[in-house]
Order: sequence, then C-alpha cells, then structure tokens
Amino acid sequence: MRQSDDISLIEQGPIGIFDSGYGGLTILREIRNHLPQYDYLYLGDNARAPYGNRSFELVYKFTLQSVKALFDRGCSLVILACNTASAKALRSIQQRDLPIIDPSRRVLGIIRPTVEQLNLISSNGHVGILGTRGTIGSQSYELEAAKLQPDFKITGHACPMWVPLVENGEADSPGADYFVKKEIEALINDDPYIDSIILACTHYPLLLDKIKRFVPNDTRIVTQGRIVAGSLANYLQRHPEIDQRCSRHSQVAYLTTESADRFTQMASIFMEENIEASHIDL
Ligand code: DGL
Repeated sequence: MRQSDDISLIEQGPIGIFDSGYGGLTILREIRNHLPQYDYLYLGDNARAPYGNRSFELVYKFTLQSVKALFDRGCSLVILACNTASAKALRSIQQRDLPIIDPSRRVLGIIRPTVEQLNLISSNGHVGILGTRGTIGSQSYELEAAKLQPDFKITGHACPMWVPLVENGEADSPGADYFVKKEIEALINDDPYIDSIILACTHYPLLLDKIKRFVPNDTRIVTQGRIVAGSLANYLQRHPEIDQRCSRHSQVAYLTTESADRFTQMASIFMEENIEASHIDL
C-alpha cells in the first residue's frame, strides 16, 4: 500500500458550516439528520450580522475571515450556509483565495444546489425567491436559473426586515406579522402565477409558521435544508479525497463572534437540544 492510501495518515477535521448568524442552523439541522456520522463546526458571525444590506466588499471580507477561521480549526470542507455569502463571496473565494490559501480545501455554497432542483420545485415554471437585499440584488438565482432552466420565470423579492426579526428573537412576535404579510403580498403581486416560493435565506425557516399563514394554500414553500443536505451527501460520494478528510465522531461544536451565552441560549432553542457555544474574535 502506498503511504497516501492509508486513511489513518490523513489529517481529518469537522465539516465547517458558516452563516452570518443563526440562520445556518436550519441547514446544519438537516445536514446532521442526513449525515449524522460526520463532525461539524458551526460558525455564526453574529457580531456582524445581518450581512443582507452590506456591500459586496464587506460580505466578501467577513466571509473570507470566517472561512479561514474554520480552516485554521481543521475543516477541509466549508459550506456557506448563507445565501448572501454564497451570492457575494463564494466565487471570489473559490477562484481567487483558495488557490493561494490551500487548493486542496473546498468551499461550497447553497444557491446552485437549490437551483438544480427547480424542475422538482415548480410545476408551472413560475418561482418566487425571497431573500436578503444582497441575495436578490445579486440576481444569483436568476443567473443560475438562466443556465439550468432557461424557461423558468424567476421573480425575486427582498425582505430586509426578516433577518433582524430572527436575530433579535422577534420571529414569533405579533409585530413580525406585518413584515411577513407585506413582503409576501408584494412578491405575489409581481407574479400572480407563482406556484412555489423558495425561502432563499437560511434565517427564513425560523419564520415559517408565519409565512405559511400569508401564502395562498396552493403555493409551495421551499426551504433549503434538505436540498443542501442531499447535495452535500452526493458531493462527498463523488469526492472521496474530501470525504476521507472529514472526521466521523458525530460531534458538533459551535463558535460565535458575539456573546457565547446568548448564542448558547438562542441556538439551543433553534436546534431543540442543549448546545454549548464558544466565542471567537475574527
Ligand atoms: N442567513 C443568511 C442568508 O441566507 C444571511 C442573513 C443576513 O445576515 O442578512 O442570506
């Protein structure tokens, strides 16, 4: 056996999951259900969230710092569980930074895997996309769809108040109703034929109960967790060289750039289990 074939000699680490704040937990939960054997290291940049209204340069800078922090802690594979970071930072990191930092590591986003499912998501080809200003303004969904499903009509609409509601623990408050109803009505007004709405921000599933109340009954609401989990499983199968660098002890650790106590409290609610977070400075 050649040395490089001996898996015990390969340095392994957790799969990194990154989001600006709590939203990526909705992705982590589904990934863990689907692939429980792996270790995960979650990083929420809560101190600088929300990213949604920030410039391209800042989202790129913050995301790159976060990816490097996850690499420094042993991750060979990092998932940007954040549409805003996937829209604004992924391509630059993949094309410009990874070849310099370490070409053997990988950073993946969540927009393309979602768009790859469009034909399963909608029957009439009219799809609504709700996301942050950054994601909607980047037109990333329209651009990817133009390559994969050019006949689809994609209508994007930004919901700038939704992430602050989630990050501030107001997702269940009566005040959130106003903002949820307003944005859904505006989207449907833009294309009344929409048969499916993609929640293209990982924070939005935390508003799902409210969203359901204002979306017409025959409209499908699509969250990304399962899509991303399925796509990751497929990726690991196709890339054994990355898969063998991912450790498997079913452990999850949480990092936040804000207060560890607050993250511990909020994330325990979202994950429906007791978790313990640690603070890091970026
Ligand atoms: N959860 C993120 C997303 O999917 C970003 C939210 C934000 O920080 O504005 O876009």
